[in-house]
Amino acid sequence: MFCVRVERVTNHTESIATITFDREIPSYPGQFLMVNVFGYEEIPLSLSSPNSVTVKAVGETTGALVKFKGGELLGLRGPFGKPFTPSKKALIVAGGIGIAPLKFLHDFLIERGADVLVVFGARTSEELIWKDELSNVMLATDDGSEGFKGNVVELIKAKNIDLSRFERIYCCGPKPMLRGLFRLFKAEGVLDRAEFLLENYMRCGIGLCGSCVLENGLRVCVDGAVFRGNEIEL
Ligand SMILES: Cc1cc2nc3c(=O)[nH]c(=O)nc-3n(C[C@H](O)[C@H](O)[C@H](O)COP(=O)(O)OP(=O)(O)OC[C@H]3O[C@@H](n4cnc5c(N)ncnc54)[C@H](O)[C@@H]3O)c2cc1C
Ligand code: FES
Repeated sequence: MFCVRVERVTNHTESIATITFDREIPSYPGQFLMVNVFGYEEIPLSLSSPNSVTVKAVGETTGALVKFKGGELLGLRGPFGKPFTPSKKALIVAGGIGIAPLKFLHDFLIERGADVLVVFGARTSEELIWKDELSNVMLATDDGSEGFKGNVVELIKAKNIDLSRFERIYCCGPKPMLRGLFRLFKAEGVLDRAEFLLENYMRCGIGLCGSCVLENGLRVCVDGAVFRGNEIEL
C-alpha cells in the first residue's frame, strides 16, 4: 500500500464527488484502485483520470469519501484489473456513476484522435456529471429533466444508432442497464466488440480470496473488471 494526499474535492452533487490526488498513478482506463479510507473500509474504485476517483455515496465508506474537503491521506493499492481495449471508432455507453471509468477512457481516446460517440443516461439532469466536457454526447434521463426521457437502451433504439459502425462499444453502469445492452448487442450481432466493466464485492483485489467470482468462475478483480461481451452472460 502507498499513500496519497487529497489535493482537491469536486462536489458534482450532494452524493457524487471527484477526489483528486496529489500525484498521477501510472494506469490505463478501466483499471481500479483498492482505496483504504482510514477509519472505514478498503473499497474498489475505478480511476476517473490518472490522479482521481469519482465516487457516489451508497454506504459508510463512500459516504465518508464524498464529505472529504481536501488534505486527507488515502491508502492505495493498485492499479489492478484489465483495462479497456483502445479503438479508433468508439461508442461509450454510461449509466449514472458508470461514467467514472468511461470519462478516463473518453479523454484517453480523444487525446489519441479517436472518433467517439457517448450515450450517457442518469436518473436526473443533475447526475449527468461532465456532460459539458464530453464530446459528441447524447443524453437521457429517467425523469425527462434533460435529453431523451428513458434509459440508454431505449435511446439507442429510438435513434436507430448503427452499432455495426463502431470498432468497440464500452459499457459501465447499473446491472439492469448492462443486461439490456447485452441483450441488444446479442440481437444485433455486435457482442464480440462490446466491453463491459463489471462490479462485484471485493476484498483482496488480486485474485486470491474468491469474493468477486462470477457464476462462470471468472474473477472480476483479475479476469476483469473489463470483460468482452463474449466472455460473460448477463
Ligand atoms: C471494479 C470496481 C470499480 C468500482 N468503481 C466505482 C467508482 O468508480 N465509483 C463508485 O462510486 N463506486 C465504484 N464501485 C463500487 C464501490 O466499490 C461500492 O459502492 C463501495 O464498495 C460501497 O462501499 P460502502 O462502504 O460505501 O457501502 P456498503 O455499505 O458496503 O454498501 C452500500 C450498498 O452498495 C452495495 N454494494 C457495495 N459494494 C458493492 C459492489 N462492489 N458492487 C455492487 N454493489 C455494492 C451494497 O450491497 C449496499 O447495498 C466499484 C466497484 C468495483 C468492484
Ligand atoms: S477480490 Fe479477492 S479474488 Fe477477487
